[in-house]
Amino acid sequence: MKPFDGKTALVTGGTRGIGNAIARRLLDLGADVVITGRDRAGAEKAAAELARGGGNCRGVALDVADFGQVEAVIKAIGAVDILVNNAGMTKDDVLMRLKEDDWDAVLDANLKGTFACSRAVIRGMMKKRWGRIVNIGSIVGSMGNIGQANYVAAKAGMEGLTKTLAREYASRGITANVVAPGFIETDMTRSLDDAVRAGLMAQIPMERFGSPEDVAAAVAFLAGDDAAYVTGQVIHVNGGMRM
Ligand SMILES: NC(=O)c1ccc[n+]([C@@H]2O[C@H](COP(=O)([O-])OP(=O)(O)OC[C@H]3O[C@@H](n4cnc5c(N)ncnc54)[C@H](OP(=O)(O)O)[C@@H]3O)[C@@H](O)[C@H]2O)c1
Repeated sequence: MKPFDGKTALVTGGTRGIGNAIARRLLDLGADVVITGRDRAGAEKAAAELARGGGNCRGVALDVADFGQVEAVIKAIGAVDILVNNAGMTKDDVLMRLKEDDWDAVLDANLKGTFACSRAVIRGMMKKRWGRIVNIGSIVGSMGNIGQANYVAAKAGMEGLTKTLAREYASRGITANVVAPGFIETDMTRSLDDAVRAGLMAQIPMERFGSPEDVAAAVAFLAGDDAAYVTGQVIHVNGGMRM
């Protein structure tokens, strides 16, 4: 018996990076996992690769910023026991140059997507009187960050949304928490130039960027029965960058 045998997990944005490591971890723990990406072929390819490492994994196309699409796709998936709202993106610029479209795109993918996916799974979780929602926030949601007003607003908003979900559904056996990564080696951070990377590294007591697996471990804890009494929390995974 594995801890997540019989559970279905939905990991949004599982095609690469942190979401892919979360999917791997949940598969290893026995869950059936559905991953999503905006492109169907990409999602199916990533799911096939994950399944080769063991476990049942399916990839579906989903743009979490599209509310109607979220409702239709999650209805087709069926009951979800563990929802990991991981899909996210950045479109950075300082506030005075930040475009309205870039504000909307980042808020829609990171924050409205989390609302839409959570709303779509909550009824099924209530019926089972068991559910886990883990939202992937960011260290910058607590600290602010130059050039990321849209992204920071979305991640800070996600913390408020999570605490509200936690309060609304605690009595139904559903927990909702945030995992807030610091700087993790993925496509999202690989494009940073050397000077920025060195500046960030100087702020990390552990003197390394995190790995997607560091984040996946915290998600697995919150998704399991060991975290039954943990809800409405923000768990920071950042090598000590923010304490
Ligand atoms: N890397 C870090 O240092 C870091 C730090 C703090 C927080 N985070 C957060 O961690 C999460 C994962 O980040 P990552 O670094 O793994 O990023 P990544 O490597 O860029 O991967 C992003 C994932 O999200 C998916 N995605 C993006 N927009 C989407 C949308 N509208 N609908 C559905 N899927 C979408 C992408 O799928 P497709 O491209 O296939 O559509 C991809 O699977 C994000 O929420 C990010 O904000 C990352």
